[in-house]
Amino acid sequence: MGWDKSHGFEYINEFNRKWLSLVRDKMKDDATIWISGTMHNIFSVGQILTELGFKILNIITWEKTNPPPNFSCRYFTYSTEQIIWARKSEKVPHYFNYELMKQVNGDKQMKDVWKLPAIAPWEKSCGKHPTQKPLSVLTRLILASTKPNAWILDPFTGSSTTGIAANLANRRFLGIDQEEEFLTISKNRKFEIENPKTAATYRQKIGGFNDKKELELFLVEEPKEEYKTELNLTKKKGDRLTAVL
Ligand SMILES: C[S@@+](CC[C@H](N)C(=O)[O-])C[C@H]1O[C@@H](n2cnc3c(N)ncnc32)[C@H](O)[C@@H]1O
Repeated sequence: MGWDKSHGFEYINEFNRKWLSLVRDKMKDDATIWISGTMHNIFSVGQILTELGFKILNIITWEKTNPPPNFSCRYFTYSTEQIIWARKSEKVPHYFNYELMKQVNGDKQMKDVWKLPAIAPWEKSCGKHPTQKPLSVLTRLILASTKPNAWILDPFTGSSTTGIAANLANRRFLGIDQEEEFLTISKNRKFEIENPKTAATYRQKIGGFNDKKELELFLVEEPKEEYKTELNLTKKKGDRLTAVL
């Protein structure tokens, strides 16, 4: 994919500086950001985050419990992805649902290594995105760091796994992508979960919980009155395509 090719270090730094500055402007002072990256850009992202004044909180290692085999037999099998968690500011405290993370981890403090399976076939019911993430990973990071009704932005939304996880967890979502075909998948995924039965089934299927009912039960008990303010969206000529889920 064109967006995945390496263009050299300075180009990557400049790209990361630009989008991270734009996103930072839109973040609330106590908001946090999660960024997953490949070995080609994750080091640059870490450096630019610090340069822009973010504070890195954790680097999560997602260990895939069922990674694809390495056919070349010249490297170790790739079985992990790194996800940086950072807050907007050094000084303003962030939100962390420590208790829930402990609960879903069998009542033990959750570590920064998450053992979760790679994406399952049922998550691809609306079409294929080449690097679609599993709902289990996105649901966990959303529940750890946001309150009900929060606005969540994914500027590289792809098939909008972030948005589907956000909506299934009663959070609002705005996604941006340069490829229209991925936004079509996103919209179809959104239409799918507008059916309450499908949404309930998906909540039961999402991995990373102690049992099938845990997510639903947690959501029923969450307070409903957080973040009442509405997002003021304007679309200027030439703006990128957006999906509001
Ligand atoms: C790694 S994928 C995201 C996958 C997503 N998490 C999912 O589960 O489907 C990155 C996405 O960023 C998009 N993208 C890359 N460069 C972009 C840019 N400059 N502006 C907007 N979207 C971009 C690509 O089209 C791609 O869909």
